[in-house]
Amino acid sequence: GSGTTTAESMEIVAGTAPGFPPFEEKDGGDLVGFDIDLLEAVVEATDYELAGWDEYEFGSLSPALQNDKIDVIAAAMTINDERDESIDFSDPYYDANQAILVANDSGFSPSEMADLEGQTLGAQKGTTGESVVQDTLIPDGIVSEDQYNSYDNYVFAVEDLVNGNIDAVVLDTPVADSFVAEREVSVAFTYETGEQYGFGVREGDSELQTALNDGLATVREDGTYEDLVAKWFK
Ligand code: ARG
Repeated sequence: GSGTTTAESMEIVAGTAPGFPPFEEKDGGDLVGFDIDLLEAVVEATDYELAGWDEYEFGSLSPALQNDKIDVIAAAMTINDERDESIDFSDPYYDANQAILVANDSGFSPSEMADLEGQTLGAQKGTTGESVVQDTLIPDGIVSEDQYNSYDNYVFAVEDLVNGNIDAVVLDTPVADSFVAEREVSVAFTYETGEQYGFGVREGDSELQTALNDGLATVREDGTYEDLVAKWFK
């Protein structure tokens, strides 16, 4: 129920998947984070108006976009060829790699992928962290399929890690740093994937895509982008 066009305003609805600090998380009942502030500033710089935010599990965002439930995804979503087949992306707005997160009290300190052999791993469903496990670690025989737990949310994966139910979590580096600051966990090592996040728009919605790109350029030029980085990444 979105994409309402009138002479004065073009309202859009944004979708995100909280539980991914500092990009999107719940603070009490409030949805907050870098993506929230950034998209709001970007849309403010366009002729569009942000009517509101809807929350989904990460894997449900692209279907919601395709089914017109939302008009834009702001969810630290990595731009990649597979996703580019079904949705379009704005210009990149943040870089990331993958981190291997372990519990501080576990005594487990792997330094490379081979050290994960036979361990139990967790990642969020539908993410690039999950792809590292499914497309690299399982095919390489480092872990078996039943040594991998797929979670609806990274918050649950980190909870299981802290409780000793799994041995490591594979997730984006900036988010790993955020969990390190909040929980008794550390980054054992990082794995270079060279990811870049973009806002997702419906395939062919080049009007919104162009507006978001222009808006991103504006907030980079006027210092807003830098201020938001300073606010959310410490
Ligand atoms: N960057 C990763 C990906 O695109 C993880 C994104 C997860 N985002 C979230 N809001 N939970 O797959």
